[in-house]
Amino acid sequence: MDRYEIATALLRGLHVAALLSLFGCLVFRRCVVPKGAVEPPLAAVDRITVVSAVLALVAGGAWLAAVAGTIAGANGIASLLAAVPLVARHTNFGNFVCARLLLLVAVFVPLALQDPRARIAALLIAGAALALQPMLGHIGASSVREILIPIEAAHLLAAGAWLGGLLPLLLCVVRAPQPLAAKLCDRFTPVGLVAVGTIAVTALPQAGELIGGFPGLFGTQYGHMALIKLGLFCLALGLACINRLLLTPRLGSRHLGSGSARRALIGSIAIEATAGLCVVLAAAAMASSPPAAHVQPVWPFAWRPSLDAWDEPELREELERLLIAAACGLVLIGISLIRRRFRFLAAGIALIVFVPFAHSLDLLLVEAFPTSYAHSTTGFSVSAISRGQTLFGEQCAICHDPQTGSGRAADLTASHIWGHLDGDLFWWITNGVTDPEGAALMPGFGSMLSETDLWALIDFIHARNVGAHAADSGKWSPPVPAPATPLNCDGDDIGSLAELGAHDLLVVAEGNPAAPVSALTGPGSIPGAETIRLTHDAGTVPGEGECVTAASTAWEAWRVLSGVSRQRFGGYRAIVDSQGWLRAWLPPRSGREQILAAVRDVNDHPIAADARPASGHRH
Ligand code: HEC
Repeated sequence: MDRYEIATALLRGLHVAALLSLFGCLVFRRCVVPKGAVEPPLAAVDRITVVSAVLALVAGGAWLAAVAGTIAGANGIASLLAAVPLVARHTNFGNFVCARLLLLVAVFVPLALQDPRARIAALLIAGAALALQPMLGHIGASSVREILIPIEAAHLLAAGAWLGGLLPLLLCVVRAPQPLAAKLCDRFTPVGLVAVGTIAVTALPQAGELIGGFPGLFGTQYGHMALIKLGLFCLALGLACINRLLLTPRLGSRHLGSGSARRALIGSIAIEATAGLCVVLAAAAMASSPPAAHVQPVWPFAWRPSLDAWDEPELREELERLLIAAACGLVLIGISLIRRRFRFLAAGIALIVFVPFAHSLDLLLVEAFPTSYAHSTTGFSVSAISRGQTLFGEQCAICHDPQTGSGRAADLTASHIWGHLDGDLFWWITNGVTDPEGAALMPGFGSMLSETDLWALIDFIHARNVGAHAADSGKWSPPVPAPATPLNCDGDDIGSLAELGAHDLLVVAEGNPAAPVSALTGPGSIPGAETIRLTHDAGTVPGEGECVTAASTAWEAWRVLSGVSRQRFGGYRAIVDSQGWLRAWLPPRSGREQILAAVRDVNDHPIAADARPASGHRH
């Protein structure tokens, strides 16, 4: 982030913090302050409310101007001011910020009236302004926005009710007479509890969408900010518990020591409010940077969690014992919490039960590298596969091709290659492979190949692996997507197969006079399946209603996936299902009936939507 971006994020944070404070003050006035209370600190609460509204309005205007400056690439105050009305009028972001600023202007009317009913109107207006937040960040652009927008709105309203209420609470604890202070602390608890519960529950789906998982959480800047936010939230929550369970009862009692309880409470609420402010600033910084799910994570640990051991029968037994020991330990700890008399005994037994199995936890961790969770940037395209093939021939075949090379290195067509994450393969090809003693087995290629080339090699390794199994047994696992292939249909260029829509495709390789593609188009076509002609000849023009792929790389990439030699590939047909998976290869001699049966079989056994794709991105 440069300085301008930091300033923009700060303005955003300040604006949202002021808005949360406005909403929180109004909730406090409505739900926490007892009816009819008129003590002087309450007038001060009303003043904070107005100051918050003014600050939210001013910071919001400045934030809009700063963002407008970025969008318009403004290089001075004059061009920045000129950009504001344009962005306000013509962008979604501008529309929603303006709607919010108008609501903030409107809120001054009920605030000026100073009566309980007008305060409810003010509360509703401030709530509406706050609930617009999802439209101003990443969630508004998400593909599941219908679900996430109400969730983020609830998150914000809850944050406002809790964090925004802390400043008025602090003021009252400092200034109000002791009985009222104790009562307010008491009455703040249910508001805080509901709010904290809502914040925690609504945070999860948002994190799922924007962070994705552990790699995004630990391996990206966005994830790190989320961790900081989580830490601050836990700090504020811990303080809230101390306030509630220890300090508030002491403040309410008539014994000596309520003075010191009040001082401790003041300190604690002040820290809680500061932590809350930092949470809001961290959230603003997150909203101003790309979500973790959209960047390459850099995994920071030397190991990663993995359930691979579960698939090995002898290791699975060990894991089952570990699970049973862990379950017994948890039951014992549960008992110790309920029957406090036995708590030391139960915790001791839990330890004795669990410790002998603790070393099995190792089985759940495997070696990891910074790129372990990196994802391919090539999209498993025909051009990447073909580029990978060229590079493989130049750099790798000498060791890795059993036919032409020395054949002493790992056989990359073995099915165990799928047991490696793409990111692990990327690391080995980049940095080389060593044996457990550290002696080099394979050199690294990172210094001579670009990142795209390294991913292209991985695409080729995967495609060749599928081909080897397809040629051998006609089956391969796990499922692979059809490679991204550019097409020309009826004279229109189409970026990829996926854009043809959801129906089955029959991709037919040209070049075998005995099995002409024309037999499968026109009257002889397969019902429900569109035929695509795969040709060598870049000059081919598609006939009417026909799709052709004449990219020089396409024929070769598909051939690699079939595992058939160049001389024999002509006439082969691939079935791609409506979800975009490559499902079956049929040899040239298969007749119409066989093709129909294969298409039916593919449709009767769809691939589960959550199947782990073998490579590339599917869209
Ligand atoms: C000098 C010989 C040599 C060259 C050249 C070479 N490798 Fe290797 N490669 C090895 C050896 C040896 C191993 C590791 C030990 C083994 O055989 O399991 C290995 C391991 C691998 C592995 C891990 C296999 C696994 O299942 O664990 C991959 C992936 C790989 N190489 C890819 C490549 C690629 C891609 C290239 C070309 C850019 C390449 N290698 C070039 C010798 C070589």
